[in-house]
Amino acid sequence: MITSNIVIRRPRMEELNRIDAFFAIVIEHTFLVNGLGALADTKAEELDYKQKIIRADFATGGEERFFLLAEHGGEIVGSIECGPANDLLVACAKNELQDVPEVGTVFVHPHHQRRGLASLLLSTMFDALWRRNVKEVCLDSGYKEAQRIWTHVFGEPTYLAKDYWGDGSHHMVWHIPLKEALGRFSSRCDSVILDKMGIQLAVQD
Ligand SMILES: CC(C)(COP(=O)(O)OP(=O)(O)OC[C@H]1O[C@@H](n2cnc3c(N)ncnc32)[C@H](O)[C@@H]1OP(=O)(O)O)[C@@H](O)C(=O)NCCC(=O)NCCS
Repeated sequence: MITSNIVIRRPRMEELNRIDAFFAIVIEHTFLVNGLGALADTKAEELDYKQKIIRADFATGGEERFFLLAEHGGEIVGSIECGPANDLLVACAKNELQDVPEVGTVFVHPHHQRRGLASLLLSTMFDALWRRNVKEVCLDSGYKEAQRIWTHVFGEPTYLAKDYWGDGSHHMVWHIPLKEALGRFSSRCDSVILDKMGIQLAVQD
């Protein structure tokens, strides 16, 4: 069941510090639950990268990167973005997805996970992309927990770089046709249902 009273909207420049802090909370927690807490440098690189791409969104008015945030009670509780596919994803997909937009930074605040928020963010982003005539996206993950969730949501990965992160730690890529993916979320993320739950979608620039 999706948490009620959520607003999905574009980020605002004046909340940049709050967005950076949100990324830091999610990354810290994610590394911990994936047993990667000791990888301080990788964690710092991940945070740096997220800070860089949210700034790319502001710098290009959403052209180079397009972020959406989820807000609940005035607090940022989720994020998602779309942009060019990252180098690792492209390499892992044997250069077959270099022109396919990547959906990434699907982050949900640890206190709000497992309540349907990622599904709502994905469905809203997919819908926004579909309206822009995008028909397919890709998504990758090296986190075991997220891999389990994306396999549940999108099926087996389209590409798998076996042992990329070490023995038994793979990197996974999903190539996702949007029509099919939108169908998966349509019953739960129908506008009438969302309206009843106090969920607002304000994704335009
Ligand atoms: C991955 C993440 C975004 C999922 O967000 P979420 O809001 O908890 O996901 P949802 O509640 O929308 O769940 C989506 C589906 O996965 C399932 N699911 C979610 N968490 C699960 C878990 N820990 N174990 C098993 N299934 C899970 C849900 O039941 C749901 O399935 P359904 O549609 O059949 O009901 C969130 O866990 C997160 O932010 N993790 C840390 C950051 C991260 O790793 N992001 C991904 C980077 S690639």
